[in-house]
Amino acid sequence: MNKTAKNKLLFGHALIPFPLKIQNMKTLKVELKDRSYPIYIGEGNLSKLPELVKLFYPVKRFVLISDKNVFGHYGDVVTSSFQAAGLHVETVLVPPGEKSKSIDRYAYVLTQMLKTGVSRDWIVLALGGGVVGDLAGFVASSYMRGIPFIQIPTSLLAQVDSSVGGKTGINHPLAKNVIGAFYQPKIVWIDIAVLRTMESVEIVSGLAEVIKYGIIYSRDFFHFCEDNIKSLLSLKSQVCTEAISKCCDIKAKIVAQDEKETGIRAILNFGHTVGHAIEAVMNYQSIRHGEAVFWGMLAEAHMALKMGLLNEKEFDRIVALFHKIPLKTGINGVVFDDLMRAMRHDKKAKDNKLRFALPKSLGETVIEGVEDETLIFNAFNFARENGWKQH
Ligand SMILES: NC(=O)c1ccc[n+]([C@@H]2O[C@H](COP(=O)([O-])OP(=O)(O)OC[C@H]3O[C@@H](n4cnc5c(N)ncnc54)[C@H](O)[C@@H]3O)[C@@H](O)[C@H]2O)c1
Repeated sequence: MNKTAKNKLLFGHALIPFPLKIQNMKTLKVELKDRSYPIYIGEGNLSKLPELVKLFYPVKRFVLISDKNVFGHYGDVVTSSFQAAGLHVETVLVPPGEKSKSIDRYAYVLTQMLKTGVSRDWIVLALGGGVVGDLAGFVASSYMRGIPFIQIPTSLLAQVDSSVGGKTGINHPLAKNVIGAFYQPKIVWIDIAVLRTMESVEIVSGLAEVIKYGIIYSRDFFHFCEDNIKSLLSLKSQVCTEAISKCCDIKAKIVAQDEKETGIRAILNFGHTVGHAIEAVMNYQSIRHGEAVFWGMLAEAHMALKMGLLNEKEFDRIVALFHKIPLKTGINGVVFDDLMRAMRHDKKAKDNKLRFALPKSLGETVIEGVEDETLIFNAFNFARENGWKQH
């Protein structure tokens, strides 16, 4: 970027102040040189996206990828707002749920786009949770060698985590997220009002990633979660906006330092080495991603305790906060040997060692290679036996 373009960014053909401030919305930015992009967070702003898009891009045609559930709630609002702005929108829908992050569903979306005549001067709109965001982002990254996409995350998990940072992809039957690309969106557009139609189990699932930021990066934010857990669970506007902004801010800072996960970005994987394996063993069907991450964080925090990284007092604080979460899905059916097998397929495994992001203290994380299976076995048993609290 040259000097005149400082604090401005080229979007399509327009050089726009970066990030462009919008009234009544929080604005954050992910600084990645010419791939930088803004994150907007507001309430009741879902239909206002076309105004911003028109400023940024001379593009007239959009393909909206969503799941049938989310589209049922918000499809009309989004498509009619684009049409009212004189923009053309085609829609491709997939079934809700993790199973849509599959090779077959990916091929289906590409086929629909080809049949519709989508070309390189179209933009993909990803309207949905993390599943739609990951799938649509990967479609955008690979369709005709890449077309732009905009994230419109609608689940808590997607608003605090998956829509930011450019990890896109789908699952292979043998392992999660192993087919994909780092491909950044052009805009992340968050309306917290849409969270109100989510099922409470999905809110709980998203809260896993919220609390994760406190444990891995910010002791103050962990404290905020402890103080506001009830308001978070009941989606109180102000607390939600603050939490979502904080999470996006932390993620944006980490991604700006390490876009392709060669260093610090790996700390975001806390709870995910065990969590992803739980999802794989449970066939991606009977447990939600965030729920699996909760169990994974509990097990991995126990490993950190036993490795002498995390002290007992902080470990107890983590467990106490988890006990306030009304988790609905257990892991009693997961056999440890299956879990180990799934973990060995994990992309984080290196030199035959499993790699874990482990808390050293609240707000501080280290990456460790672990060979000791007994340590993992004990941690998994601890989570299974102590993670559950009746609500
Ligand atoms: N790319 C990343 O960096 C990243 C980070 C974390 C997680 N992920 C991925 O995200 C996925 C999980 O995301 P998720 O928890 O959002 O799952 P999801 O996309 O399946 O959404 C959960 C459910 O909530 C519904 N839903 C979403 N928004 C809604 C709304 N506003 N109102 C009513 N219903 C709504 C969906 O239809 C779905 O049934 C996993 O595949 C995970 O691997 C990716």
